[in-house]
Amino acid sequence: MARRLQWIALNESEVVEWLRAKALVAEPAAVAELAGRGDCGDLLERVEKRLSAAPGGGFVATKKMLDEVVAEKEVEQRAAAAVVVVEATGFKPAARDVASRLRFRDEWSASTRSGCGGGVNDFVGYFRDRFKRIAPILRARASEAGVTPISKLKSVVQGRGARIVGIVADKRETKNGHLIFELEDEEGIAVCLVSKDSPLMQTGRQIVLDEVIAVDGVVSNSLFVAKNIVWPEVPIREKRLADEDVAAAFISDLHVGSRFFLQDQFQKFLRFLKGEGSESEKEVAGKIKYLFVAGDVVDGIGVYPSQEKELVTKDIYMQYEIFAELMKIIPEYIEVIVIPGNHDAVRVAEPQPPLLPEFTKSLSGYSNIHFAGNPAVAEAHGLSVLMYHGSSLFSMIENNPALAGGFQNPEKVGIDLLRRRHLSPIYGGNPVVPECRDYLVIPDIPDIFHFGHVHKNGYADYRGTMVINSGTWQDVTEYQVKQGHVPSPCQLPVYNLRTGGLNVLSFKEAPA
Ligand SMILES: [Fe+2]
Ligand SMILES: [Fe+2]
Repeated sequence: MARRLQWIALNESEVVEWLRAKALVAEPAAVAELAGRGDCGDLLERVEKRLSAAPGGGFVATKKMLDEVVAEKEVEQRAAAAVVVVEATGFKPAARDVASRLRFRDEWSASTRSGCGGGVNDFVGYFRDRFKRIAPILRARASEAGVTPISKLKSVVQGRGARIVGIVADKRETKNGHLIFELEDEEGIAVCLVSKDSPLMQTGRQIVLDEVIAVDGVVSNSLFVAKNIVWPEVPIREKRLADEDVAAAFISDLHVGSRFFLQDQFQKFLRFLKGEGSESEKEVAGKIKYLFVAGDVVDGIGVYPSQEKELVTKDIYMQYEIFAELMKIIPEYIEVIVIPGNHDAVRVAEPQPPLLPEFTKSLSGYSNIHFAGNPAVAEAHGLSVLMYHGSSLFSMIENNPALAGGFQNPEKVGIDLLRRRHLSPIYGGNPVVPECRDYLVIPDIPDIFHFGHVHKNGYADYRGTMVINSGTWQDVTEYQVKQGHVPSPCQLPVYNLRTGGLNVLSFKEAPA
C-alpha cells in the first residue's frame, strides 16, 4: 500500500535526503522548520512544485519560500473549513424570510430632547407631570366614594371614610412604632397614620418616597388614619402574542473593555445566532428576529474608583469599536435595539439619550442596528417592549423591605416597578434629570418589560407582561463579591412572540 506522503513526519536528515533525491537543497532554517512537522511531506511536495514552476528552474528551498507555502496552505484550509461549516450547519433561519415589524414609540425615544436644566421650576414641573399622569390611573380605580382632594379633607366628617391620591412627600416611623407618611396633591398635604398594631403596617412599610398612591382612610383630628393603601397596579389582562412564529432574544451588561468581559462566550453566542450550534440550538436561533440590548454595552472609563485596574481596553472609543465589531457579526435579518446604561458614555442621569454617533459611527451602514434612549419603548411584531437599564433597582431594594433579596430575584423588583407605574420612583435614589415631562412614568403596560443592571437573570409572567432581566456577559468582579452579589453570566433568554414560551440557553461553558 502506498504511503501517503502528506501524513509523514521526517527528521532533518530525512528531509535533506528527500530533497537530494530530487536534486534540490534547502536552507538550514527551512530544513529545521520542516523537520518534525506532521505535514512535512505535504510541504515538501508544495516546495518542489513551486521550485519547478520558477522561471529557469530553482533548486534552493529558502526559509522565506517555506513561510509562503505554509501561509498559502493555511488560507486554503480556512477556506475549506468555511465551506464545510456552511454545508454542515445547513442553517436556513425561518426569521430571515419574515418581514421585520419594528417601530419606536416617539414619546419615549424623545429622551434626547432634554428641555430642562434642573432648576426649582423644573423640579416642580417634573413632579406635577408625574402626578398628572399617574393620579388618573388611581382615580379610575376609585372606590364608590370617589376621590377627595386633600384640601377638602377638612370638610369631611370625623370618622367618615375617604380616598385621597397624592405623592409621598415624607415617610417615617415614630418612637412608638407607628408609621407616619405625608401625601401631597396639587393643593394640600395630608399627614397619614398607620398605627403600629394595624394589619396595614407591613403594606405601609412598602411605600417609597415620591411615588403616587391612593390611601383610603378616615379623618381623625389632624390625621388621616389609613385603612388601605392602593398602588396604580397593572390590570389583569390576557397575554398578547404575535401572529408569526418569531422570537426575541435579550442581553444586557456586556461590559466590553473590562477584563471580566466574557468575550469567548459572547462569540459563542454570536456563532449560535449564525446557526453554528446543535440541532436544537439551530431551531431556536432560526426564529430570532429581534435582539434587545439593555445597556452597559461597554465598561466605560472612570465609572467607579480604581476602575482602570479592571480594564483591558482603556480607550472608550476602542471599547465601542470592539462592541461594534461584535454587533457586525449578527445576521442582518435580526433587528438589534441598543439602549445605554450607567457605564455607557452618555449622561448618567435618566432619561439617558441614545449612544452618540461618535461612538457608533462604524455601525452607521448597518440598518438593522438601532440606538434608542434609556428608557425606550419599541414595538416588535405588534408587542410593546419596555426597555430600561435598571439603575433604580438598588434604591428600590434598599427602601422596600418586601424586596429583600431582590438582587437574586430581580424579576420581583421589575414587577414592583410595574405596580407603581414608575421606573424610578425615589427621586435621588439614582441620578434623574427633572425634565418637564417625567419619562420614567409607565403610562401603558408593556407586553414585555426588559431590564438588566444587577447582572442576575430573572423571569416572571405578571398579569400578562413578560418580565425579563437578561443578566450579564461579564464574569463575577471583586466588587460584586464584596457586595455579596451572585451574578449569572451568559444566560440567554429567548422569548417566542407567538407562543409566549421562554427558552433560556447557557453559554457559560468554555467555548468549543
Ligand atoms: Fe452592568
Ligand atoms: Fe448598570
